[in-house]
Amino acid sequence: PRRQPARRRTAVLATVPVAVAALLGAAGPTAPGTTGAPGAGDPYFPFSGNGGYDVRHYDLTLRYDTSARRLDATAVLTARATQRLGRFDLDLKGLTVTAVTVDRAKAAFRRDGQELVVTPRHALRAGQDFRVTVAYHGTPKPVTDPDGSADGWIPTDDGAFVAGEPQGAMTWFPANAHPKDKASYDFTITVPEGRTAVANGVLLGQRTTGGKTTFRWRETQPMAAYLATASIGKFQVERYTTRDGVQVYNAVDAREARAAAPVLKKLPSVLEWESKLFGPYPFRAAGAIVDHAPDVGYALETQTRPVYDSAPDLGTLVHESAHQWFGDSVTLTAWKDIWLNEGFATYAEWLYEEQHGGRSAQQAFDSLYARPASDDLWAYPPGDPGSGENIFGTPVYARGAMALHELRRAVGDRDFLRTLRAWATGHRGGHGTTAQFVRLAEKTSGKRLDGLFHTWLYTPGKPDRA
Ligand code: ARG
Ligand code: ZN
Repeated sequence: PRRQPARRRTAVLATVPVAVAALLGAAGPTAPGTTGAPGAGDPYFPFSGNGGYDVRHYDLTLRYDTSARRLDATAVLTARATQRLGRFDLDLKGLTVTAVTVDRAKAAFRRDGQELVVTPRHALRAGQDFRVTVAYHGTPKPVTDPDGSADGWIPTDDGAFVAGEPQGAMTWFPANAHPKDKASYDFTITVPEGRTAVANGVLLGQRTTGGKTTFRWRETQPMAAYLATASIGKFQVERYTTRDGVQVYNAVDAREARAAAPVLKKLPSVLEWESKLFGPYPFRAAGAIVDHAPDVGYALETQTRPVYDSAPDLGTLVHESAHQWFGDSVTLTAWKDIWLNEGFATYAEWLYEEQHGGRSAQQAFDSLYARPASDDLWAYPPGDPGSGENIFGTPVYARGAMALHELRRAVGDRDFLRTLRAWATGHRGGHGTTAQFVRLAEKTSGKRLDGLFHTWLYTPGKPDRA
């Protein structure tokens, strides 16, 4: 059953005496006002993320039995309290938690929907650094998103396809799972010998003993929880370093290898082309995980190393690669801004076609604009798609890209490309909002653009031709 929104729930608790609150299940010596919020305040996914602390680093140790589909894991989170905390939440859905410690002292915990509610022995001071260890196990299951798609830990016939956008991180590790909170990651993943476990960043090493192989991965650049992966399968592995010194690691399911090879060969040139347009590639590692997961139906730009449910076409490779700048390096602070990811990655596809002998971006725009007012493309404006159900809809991808094309027509190619590049470099490794992007475009071009963005991002229905 769905719980009440965070704010109302806290307000009710605050009005009852502490003793009654304890009876209601507020475990431990928690004084009112020292409880971290059970959500990050995003109306599209009210229980994603949490209040009261900021995670610096995740150290995830995972053992996965591919035939029993069982996960045995320990997560160590290094975090800093942003308020006094008698109690705080982590996001975790399903699975069995066996122990929680905070700074090595046993902590009380309980489960409440997708929240793992932790009560440390001693309240944490505002500004205090602390370490939470969670031991857990079970059979991870994906979540069903408001649009009916599945994300999170998705078992396959030989392992798992692991992609957490928008809310699936909580299906396999306890997290502050809102893109507002980025952190570095270490992964130690043990799988049966013959399987490969692929996460984000650089492979530190792998070792096989007693019929099991352990892979150690490290992502030092800040990463949102939804971009973490630990995909497992019978993969063919290819490794090399690009001219720019980026370490490439591709893992490809044998059933997809023939179709994937010609596209994956283009990865270095795609990254180089995007680096010229958007500024230096933001990460040290790159690559692809090409799985065979026929039920998934999408790819995800998992940081440094996108995961594909089957061999991608070139457009999809360009799209997921562009997300490394737009989404992964420059990250959303609210899901309503999703066009900053999907509109930009789609526009990168248009630019790629235009500069590689295909149709122009204007032609791409025109063929979309020709659609009748009744088309799904105009069903809602992309700048605030209204709910989690709409965030991966055509308006976000296509009309989002059209908004960028209208910006390009208004300011000219030079200022348009300068804006994209300044966006990627100025917010590198951090966050960005739509309002900040509009301000940057205005500053770069010296033009007033609020009308244009108001029309293309926020006005319902098919816009009139400018
Ligand atoms: N961001 C992905 C893309 O590149 C789409 C993710 C879709 N996720 C989902 N649960 N349907 O387009
Ligand atoms: Zn995308």
